[in-house]
Formats: sequence, structure tokens, C-alpha cells
Amino acid sequence: MARIIGALATSHIPAIGGAIAKGLEQDPYWKPFFDGFGPARDWLRQEKPDVAIIFYNDHGLNFFLDKMPTFAIGAAPEYRNDDEGWGIPTLPPFKGAPDLSWAIINHLVEQEFDIVSCQEMLVDHAFTLPYKLFWPKGEGPLTVPVCINTVQFPLPSAKRCVALGRAVGEAVAAWDGDKKVVVIGSGGLSHQLDGQRAGFINKPFDLKFMQSMIDEPEWAAQYSIRELVEKTGTQGIELLNWLAARAAAPRRMRKVHSNYHIPISNTAAGMMALEAA
Ligand code: DHB
Ligand code: FE
Repeated sequence: MARIIGALATSHIPAIGGAIAKGLEQDPYWKPFFDGFGPARDWLRQEKPDVAIIFYNDHGLNFFLDKMPTFAIGAAPEYRNDDEGWGIPTLPPFKGAPDLSWAIINHLVEQEFDIVSCQEMLVDHAFTLPYKLFWPKGEGPLTVPVCINTVQFPLPSAKRCVALGRAVGEAVAAWDGDKKVVVIGSGGLSHQLDGQRAGFINKPFDLKFMQSMIDEPEWAAQYSIRELVEKTGTQGIELLNWLAARAAAPRRMRKVHSNYHIPISNTAAGMMALEAA
């Protein structure tokens, strides 16, 4: 029986990749952001999960606007990163966990989710940066990418993302690999990169949302996509990935650590590490 032992979440601002490459973690601009990760890295070193299921959104590397699946699951032995045009280093390939991927895909289809299964899949900064932040030497576990469309309307509702997460959690529990699994939600928190509200940040909402991740994991699912975009910005809606990851984890979780820092680039940068209570 596989177990979800932890739920992690972090923003995925591309500039983080540049800061890591240039060794700027102690730089005054970056320190308040990177300091958040120490306790999560310690916890991961201690717990040594075997697989990380990463809920993220692709920004045009693997899926462009011409073909945009609502939910896509990777089922490959490895996932390559590639140049996305942000000027950040391309990272070496990430190892997959195809057995678990197929267990998840089979369960989701049984549960009537119409997903896209991907036996080849490039992964962008929303996948690579959380991995690099939690396992800075690349020493982390095997991976399963779960890609949610937060980019091109219509987006799946928050309620639907919670249901997806829950079904992924069921698939892990039923999988006969005797493994420790962590789930990761990538993106957010509030930010808007373009349009009239470019630079929009909503700290009160972000802090309430982070608290809800601990003790009221479906709180944000009361809102429609339109309401969430209004409250968090056109890219803040990436919080759907946090919601799905949290829904995959056990209901009762306790906080290992969290951090919230405004701004990194245009974004309210948040991170959380929760462990099964
Ligand atoms: C930024 C944030 C993102 O989530 C992203 O995907 C790209 C850029 C930013 O704040 O610069
Ligand atoms: Fe993003």
C-alpha cells in the first residue's frame, strides 16, 4: 500500500531558476524567499519519499494554445525540460514513475475523468522549479506530472480540481507499490502578469487560502473561476494546483513550515510543507 506522507506547495516564478543558477539564495532580494525552504528540505531528507506527484500548469512548452487539455497525466520513464525563453538554465531530465502514472490514469478514467495520457511530455518551469526548490541537488524522488489547464479559458472549476486531487489520492492508496509519496502543488499565489491589473496582489486572500490548506482544504472551492481570478489575478488562478494537491492528501495534515513573501517578480510567493497528521 502506497501512502501520501506530505503535501508541498510553492510558487514557480521563472526568475527563481536564474537566482539558483547564479547562487543568489543569500542575496537580500532572494533570502526571504529561499529561507522558507530550509525546514521543508530537512523534513524531506528525513522522510525520503519515493515518488512526487506534481500538480502544475504548462505555460506553452508542451501544450500550446492550439491544443490545451484540461487535465493531462505523464506516463513516461523520463520528462525532459527545454528552453522556454525565460533565459533560465535547462535542467537535466526528471525520472518518471510509469507504474504509478498508469495506476492513476486507470483510476481517473474509471472515475469518469476524461484525461489525456502522455507517454512523452516536456516539463516547464512550473514542474522543474518546485522540484529544484525542494531537492536542490536534484536528489529527489521519481515523479508523476499532473498538468491542469490554468492558462486558457475555459478552466476547470476549483470544485473539479478538488475532485481530481481526491481521485489521485484514491489511486495512490490503492496502488500496490509499498512507497512513500508526496504531492506538490505548483504556482500562485496572487499575481497578474498583464492587462489593466498587472502587478495585482491580494495578501489577505492569500493568507486565508494558506490557512485553509491546513484545516479547511476545500474552502477555496466555494468560489467560481471568475471569482477566484478576481481575488487572485489571471495567473493567481494557478492556486488550482495547490487545491488539487491538497485534496489528494489525507484530510488531517499538520504544518511543517510555511512562508509568504511579497513580491518576487510580479508574484506573491508562497510555500507550504504539510505532513500527514
Ligand atoms: C511569473 C510568475 C509565474 O507564475 C509565471 O509562470 C511566470 C512569471 C512572474 O511573476 O514573473
Ligand atoms: Fe506560472
